[in-house]
Amino acid sequence: MAALLLFESSPVMLASWHNLSARISLKDNSMSSFEAAHGKDVWKYAEADPKHSNLLNNAMACDARIVVSTIIDGCPEIFEGVNTIVDVGGGDGTTLRLLVEAFPWINGINFDLPHVASVAPHAICVVHVGGDMFNYVPKADAAFLMWVLHDWSDEECIQILTKCREAIPQDNGKVIIVEAIIGGKEESIIRGSNNEKLKDVGLMLDMVMMAHTSNGKERTSKEWAYVLNEAGFGRHTISHINAVQSVIQAYPS
Ligand SMILES: C[S@@+](CC[C@H](N)C(=O)[O-])C[C@H]1O[C@@H](n2cnc3c(N)ncnc32)[C@H](O)[C@@H]1O
Repeated sequence: MAALLLFESSPVMLASWHNLSARISLKDNSMSSFEAAHGKDVWKYAEADPKHSNLLNNAMACDARIVVSTIIDGCPEIFEGVNTIVDVGGGDGTTLRLLVEAFPWINGINFDLPHVASVAPHAICVVHVGGDMFNYVPKADAAFLMWVLHDWSDEECIQILTKCREAIPQDNGKVIIVEAIIGGKEESIIRGSNNEKLKDVGLMLDMVMMAHTSNGKERTSKEWAYVLNEAGFGRHTISHINAVQSVIQAYPS
């Protein structure tokens, strides 16, 4: 938790909250408040500032430790028959390290931007690969994306998911997405009373996306279905876990 607090309360991240008005004053909503504050987006900023990049990676790893243990306890069957996983936007590799420890038959590829992959700590059965997920995703039985797609617009998500579909076997591959599913009417029916809690969390997460990313947003189950279908995933399932996030498994058409 400390790493998350240090990151979110850093002057760099707080500056984007102070520039939220950029979203209103620019008619076409073209500049994020982070860009208004720093002149570049959050990823380019991290690339240029290794200290901030380290703060970001530590914060993500802190959240990953909590969520991954919930996934391991709540739905271990997701990883049955999966021998290789590519974690797309996997940060410092904490997620894959924990998954490989829990499911030792898995070999992991931790895929992230070169400045992140090049400083990721060594982990057994995990290789770190640097690259751009908009261009290419390394091949594996399953592609895993946690807290990545909500940073991007629908069009960008469709591009990333299309690269993930190209990276997995068309007959028995899958994409595993760990993200929040915020309230629409359909969520009230699916989640019952839990929905009220998620409604407030959803609003908070959406505000964070607005402050920190250029085009990111949280999505309802209908909005997730849209980006998945457009990227060529004809079928998907949703598993609710004991966390803000849910687990979406999507299969190529
Ligand atoms: C919000 S963090 C999530 C990290 C990790 N999945 C987790 O949940 O702990 C998003 C990650 O996406 C990575 N990323 C951003 N743009 C990328 C790109 N074009 N290609 C690959 N990774 C990218 C960032 O460097 C960052 O590590």
